[in-house]
Amino acid sequence: MSGIFITFEGGEGSGKTTIAAMIKEHLTREGYQVTLTREPGGVEIAEKIRDIIHNVDYTNMDCKTEALLYAASRRQHLVEKVIPALESGHIVICDRYLDSSMVYQGIARGIGVDEVYQMNLFATENILPKRTIFFDILPEDGLKRVYANKDREVNRLDLENIDFHRKVYNGYLSLCDKFPDRIVKIDASLTIDQVFSQVLSKIKEIL
Ligand code: TYD
Repeated sequence: MSGIFITFEGGEGSGKTTIAAMIKEHLTREGYQVTLTREPGGVEIAEKIRDIIHNVDYTNMDCKTEALLYAASRRQHLVEKVIPALESGHIVICDRYLDSSMVYQGIARGIGVDEVYQMNLFATENILPKRTIFFDILPEDGLKRVYANKDREVNRLDLENIDFHRKVYNGYLSLCDKFPDRIVKIDASLTIDQVFSQVLSKIKEIL
Protein backbone atom coordinates (compact mmCIF):
# COMPACT_ATOMS: atom_id res chain seq x y z
CA MET A 1 0.00 0.00 0.00
CA SER A 2 1.49 3.30 -1.06
CA GLY A 3 -0.43 5.60 1.32
CA ILE A 4 0.41 6.61 4.86
CA PHE A 5 -1.78 5.62 7.76
CA ILE A 6 -1.88 8.05 10.70
CA THR A 7 -4.13 7.90 13.75
CA PHE A 8 -5.07 10.47 16.38
CA GLU A 9 -5.72 9.39 19.94
CA GLY A 10 -6.64 11.08 23.20
CA GLY A 11 -9.25 11.42 25.89
CA GLU A 12 -12.49 13.34 25.73
CA GLY A 13 -12.09 17.00 24.76
CA SER A 14 -8.49 16.61 23.69
CA GLY A 15 -9.18 18.57 20.49
CA LYS A 16 -8.13 15.86 18.05
CA THR A 17 -11.25 16.13 15.91
CA THR A 18 -10.83 19.88 15.39
CA ILE A 19 -7.14 19.54 14.62
CA ALA A 20 -7.76 16.62 12.25
CA ALA A 21 -9.98 18.82 10.08
CA MET A 22 -7.35 21.60 10.07
CA ILE A 23 -4.58 19.16 9.13
CA LYS A 24 -6.63 17.74 6.30
CA GLU A 25 -7.26 21.19 4.90
CA HIS A 26 -3.61 22.18 5.21
CA LEU A 27 -2.20 19.04 3.58
CA THR A 28 -4.80 19.15 0.81
CA ARG A 29 -3.75 22.73 0.01
CA GLU A 30 -0.17 21.49 -0.23
CA GLY A 31 -1.27 18.98 -2.87
CA TYR A 32 -1.52 15.78 -0.84
CA GLN A 33 -4.49 13.49 -1.21
CA VAL A 34 -5.97 13.10 2.24
CA THR A 35 -8.74 10.92 3.60
CA LEU A 36 -10.03 11.98 6.99
CA THR A 37 -12.17 9.52 8.82
CA ARG A 38 -13.18 8.50 12.32
CA GLU A 39 -13.94 5.55 14.53
CA PRO A 40 -16.27 4.13 15.51
CA GLY A 41 -18.06 4.84 12.24
CA GLY A 42 -16.84 6.25 8.95
CA VAL A 43 -18.95 3.90 6.77
CA GLU A 44 -22.61 2.97 7.00
CA ILE A 45 -22.36 -0.42 8.74
CA ALA A 46 -19.82 0.92 11.21
CA GLU A 47 -22.02 3.96 11.93
CA LYS A 48 -24.91 1.61 12.75
CA ILE A 49 -22.65 -0.28 15.16
CA ARG A 50 -21.62 3.08 16.64
CA ASP A 51 -25.27 3.91 17.35
CA ILE A 52 -25.62 0.70 19.33
CA ILE A 53 -22.40 1.15 21.31
CA HIS A 54 -23.05 4.77 22.17
CA ASN A 55 -26.75 4.48 22.97
CA VAL A 56 -27.06 6.03 26.44
CA ASP A 57 -29.94 3.64 27.26
CA TYR A 58 -27.72 0.55 27.01
CA THR A 59 -26.14 0.87 30.44
CA ASN A 60 -26.23 -2.93 30.80
CA MET A 61 -23.89 -3.58 27.86
CA ASP A 62 -21.24 -6.15 28.81
CA CYS A 63 -17.69 -4.82 28.47
CA LYS A 64 -16.56 -7.64 26.16
CA THR A 65 -19.61 -7.07 23.96
CA GLU A 66 -18.55 -3.44 23.81
CA ALA A 67 -14.98 -4.40 22.86
CA LEU A 68 -16.20 -6.81 20.16
CA LEU A 69 -18.53 -4.21 18.69
CA TYR A 70 -15.72 -1.67 18.47
CA ALA A 71 -13.55 -4.29 16.77
CA ALA A 72 -16.36 -5.22 14.36
CA SER A 73 -16.91 -1.60 13.48
CA ARG A 74 -13.15 -1.14 13.06
CA ARG A 75 -12.86 -4.06 10.66
CA GLN A 76 -15.69 -2.89 8.42
CA HIS A 77 -14.30 0.63 8.29
CA LEU A 78 -10.79 -0.65 7.58
CA VAL A 79 -11.84 -2.90 4.72
CA GLU A 80 -14.32 -0.52 3.14
CA LYS A 81 -12.55 2.78 3.55
CA VAL A 82 -9.03 2.80 5.00
CA ILE A 83 -7.40 0.07 2.90
CA PRO A 84 -8.79 1.34 -0.45
CA ALA A 85 -7.63 4.87 0.39
CA LEU A 86 -4.14 3.63 1.34
CA GLU A 87 -4.00 1.58 -1.86
CA SER A 88 -4.72 4.68 -3.88
CA GLY A 89 -1.87 6.53 -2.19
CA HIS A 90 -3.78 8.72 0.25
CA ILE A 91 -2.63 9.96 3.61
CA VAL A 92 -5.33 8.48 5.83
CA ILE A 93 -5.95 10.29 9.09
CA CYS A 94 -8.17 8.29 11.38
CA ASP A 95 -9.64 9.87 14.50
CA ARG A 96 -9.19 6.92 16.93
CA TYR A 97 -8.15 3.35 16.12
CA LEU A 98 -7.13 0.27 18.08
CA ASP A 99 -5.28 2.19 20.79
CA SER A 100 -8.68 3.54 21.88
CA SER A 101 -9.86 -0.03 22.43
CA MET A 102 -6.71 -0.98 24.32
CA VAL A 103 -7.14 1.99 26.61
CA TYR A 104 -10.93 2.28 27.03
CA GLN A 105 -11.85 -1.41 26.98
CA GLY A 106 -8.51 -2.99 27.90
CA ILE A 107 -7.46 -0.70 30.72
CA ALA A 108 -10.41 1.46 31.84
CA ARG A 109 -12.99 -1.34 31.58
CA GLY A 110 -10.41 -3.84 32.85
CA ILE A 111 -10.52 -6.51 30.11
CA GLY A 112 -6.72 -6.43 29.78
CA VAL A 113 -4.58 -4.66 27.21
CA ASP A 114 -3.06 -7.79 25.73
CA GLU A 115 -6.43 -9.51 25.32
CA VAL A 116 -7.87 -6.49 23.55
CA TYR A 117 -4.74 -6.13 21.43
CA GLN A 118 -4.91 -9.76 20.27
CA MET A 119 -8.58 -9.46 19.41
CA ASN A 120 -7.87 -6.35 17.41
CA LEU A 121 -4.99 -7.90 15.54
CA PHE A 122 -7.51 -10.47 14.33
CA ALA A 123 -9.90 -7.69 13.30
CA THR A 124 -7.26 -5.59 11.58
CA GLU A 125 -4.96 -8.31 10.22
CA ASN A 126 -2.05 -6.50 11.86
CA ILE A 127 -2.56 -3.25 9.97
CA LEU A 128 -1.09 -0.66 12.29
CA PRO A 129 -0.63 3.07 11.72
CA LYS A 130 2.78 4.34 10.71
CA ARG A 131 2.34 7.10 13.28
CA THR A 132 -0.09 7.70 16.11
CA ILE A 133 -0.40 11.12 17.69
CA PHE A 134 -1.47 11.17 21.31
CA PHE A 135 -3.15 14.45 22.33
CA ASP A 136 -1.95 14.83 25.88
CA ILE A 137 -4.29 16.78 28.15
CA LEU A 138 -5.32 16.05 31.75
CA PRO A 139 -8.78 14.43 31.83
CA GLU A 140 -10.17 17.18 34.09
CA ASP A 141 -9.18 19.83 31.54
CA GLY A 142 -10.48 17.82 28.57
CA LEU A 143 -13.85 17.24 30.21
CA LYS A 144 -14.16 20.96 30.98
CA ARG A 145 -13.89 21.60 27.24
CA VAL A 146 -16.50 18.93 26.48
CA TYR A 147 -19.02 20.49 28.82
CA ALA A 148 -18.27 23.99 27.50
CA ASN A 149 -19.13 22.83 23.96
CA LYS A 150 -22.90 22.46 24.00
CA ASP A 151 -23.13 21.25 20.39
CA ARG A 152 -21.08 18.13 21.02
CA GLU A 153 -22.91 14.80 21.12
CA VAL A 154 -22.69 13.29 24.63
CA ASN A 155 -22.13 9.51 24.50
CA ARG A 156 -22.20 6.64 26.97
CA LEU A 157 -18.46 6.89 27.62
CA ASP A 158 -18.56 10.62 28.36
CA LEU A 159 -20.95 9.80 31.18
CA GLU A 160 -18.39 7.67 33.00
CA ASN A 161 -16.93 9.17 36.18
CA ILE A 162 -13.63 10.96 36.47
CA ASP A 163 -11.82 7.82 37.70
CA PHE A 164 -12.64 6.14 34.39
CA HIS A 165 -11.20 9.08 32.45
CA ARG A 166 -8.08 9.07 34.64
CA LYS A 167 -7.61 5.40 33.80
CA VAL A 168 -7.97 6.27 30.12
CA TYR A 169 -5.35 8.99 30.47
CA ASN A 170 -2.87 6.80 32.34
CA GLY A 171 -3.59 4.03 29.85
CA TYR A 172 -2.51 6.26 26.99
CA LEU A 173 0.68 7.19 28.83
CA SER A 174 1.48 3.50 29.27
CA LEU A 175 0.87 2.84 25.55
CA CYS A 176 3.31 5.67 24.73
CA ASP A 177 5.95 3.69 26.66
CA LYS A 178 4.92 0.38 25.10
CA PHE A 179 5.04 1.62 21.48
CA PRO A 180 7.63 4.43 21.49
CA ASP A 181 8.40 4.09 17.77
CA ARG A 182 4.80 4.47 16.70
CA ILE A 183 3.14 6.78 19.24
CA VAL A 184 4.26 10.39 19.68
CA LYS A 185 2.85 12.71 22.30
CA ILE A 186 1.94 16.36 21.80
CA ASP A 187 0.85 18.92 24.41
CA ALA A 188 -2.87 19.33 23.75
CA SER A 189 -3.45 21.80 26.59
CA LEU A 190 -2.10 24.69 24.49
CA THR A 191 -3.97 26.93 22.01
CA ILE A 192 -5.42 25.46 18.83
CA ASP A 193 -2.69 27.06 16.71
CA GLN A 194 0.07 25.69 18.92
CA VAL A 195 -1.43 22.21 18.93
CA PHE A 196 -1.87 22.37 15.15
CA SER A 197 1.83 23.20 14.58
CA GLN A 198 3.03 20.42 16.84
CA VAL A 199 0.82 17.89 15.06
CA LEU A 200 1.82 19.11 11.62
CA SER A 201 5.51 18.79 12.41
CA LYS A 202 5.02 15.24 13.72
CA ILE A 203 3.25 14.35 10.48
CA LYS A 204 5.82 16.06 8.26
CA GLU A 205 8.54 13.90 9.83
CA ILE A 206 7.07 10.85 8.12
CA LEU A 207 5.93 12.28 4.76
P1 TYD B 1 -16.77 10.37 19.81
O1 TYD B 1 -18.09 11.01 19.99
O2 TYD B 1 -16.31 10.07 18.45
O3 TYD B 1 -15.77 11.26 20.60
P2 TYD B 1 -14.27 11.69 20.47
O4 TYD B 1 -14.30 13.02 19.79
O5 TYD B 1 -13.83 11.75 21.89
O6 TYD B 1 -13.50 10.65 19.69
O7 TYD B 1 -16.79 9.09 20.71
C1 TYD B 1 -15.90 8.08 20.65
C2 TYD B 1 -16.04 7.38 21.98
O8 TYD B 1 -15.83 5.99 21.82
C3 TYD B 1 -15.03 7.86 22.99
O9 TYD B 1 -15.67 8.00 24.25
C4 TYD B 1 -14.04 6.73 23.06
C5 TYD B 1 -14.84 5.54 22.70
N1 TYD B 1 -14.09 4.44 22.06
C6 TYD B 1 -13.80 3.30 22.77
O10 TYD B 1 -14.13 3.19 23.96
N2 TYD B 1 -13.13 2.28 22.16
C7 TYD B 1 -12.77 2.34 20.85
O11 TYD B 1 -12.18 1.39 20.30
C8 TYD B 1 -13.09 3.53 20.11
C9 TYD B 1 -12.71 3.66 18.67
C10 TYD B 1 -13.75 4.56 20.76
